Amino acid sequence: MARRTRHGNLPVGLAPLDRVNESIGVGMAEDRAERLKVFELFPYGLFLVGANGAKGPTVIIATWVSQVSFDPPLVMISIEKESEIRFDIERSKHFSVNVLASGDKEIARSYLRPPTSETHDELLFGLGGSPLVKRAIAWLEASIVNSIDAGDHIVFIGKVTEAKLIRQDSVLNLKDTGWKYSR
Ligand SMILES: Cc1cc2nc3c(=O)[nH]c(=O)nc-3n(C[C@H](O)[C@H](O)[C@H](O)COP(=O)(O)O)c2cc1C
Repeated sequence: MARRTRHGNLPVGLAPLDRVNESIGVGMAEDRAERLKVFELFPYGLFLVGANGAKGPTVIIATWVSQVSFDPPLVMISIEKESEIRFDIERSKHFSVNVLASGDKEIARSYLRPPTSETHDELLFGLGGSPLVKRAIAWLEASIVNSIDAGDHIVFIGKVTEAKLIRQDSVLNLKDTGWKYSR
């Protein structure tokens, strides 16, 4: 059932956005604390994203990662503009996404700091040169097909060129780590 309004046909029960704003208090989207609370409700994964850097492999913890198309198979990552890996991805035109098991927060933690020779030993490399984490439960490598300016981040969209499920296991999510990606 639809209701005809000056905003067009709205399903019954849905108010136009300006009416919703009136009822909940206009300007909430401008309220940083409220905005953070809403963002923190979003469920996210916790991945290791890698790229072939000029000075060796770069691997970071990243949570803003998602499949965005079935055909072709596309995946997106949102990467801080000022980060080293942004330039590594632009240079190598590839990136990897590594999925960890739910019990492997410590593996993720080892990538909080720049990789040491110890963490380097845990890497394999994709055909596009991106580091693949040996102890991950799955990984994929993607070749950049698009990038979009997204405020203080850049969204890279890559076409999946290689993917491997190493073992079935429960997956590490941002919520499991107690970490936050917010400011
Ligand atoms: C829980 C968590 C999630 C993160 N998610 C992202 C992300 O989605 N995108 C991103 O660019 N950086 C993310 N980061 C930050 C990167 O891991 C890393 O700190 C940053 O790329 C390092 O930048 P640098 O080259 O300036 O040292 C996250 C960090 C943490 C702790």
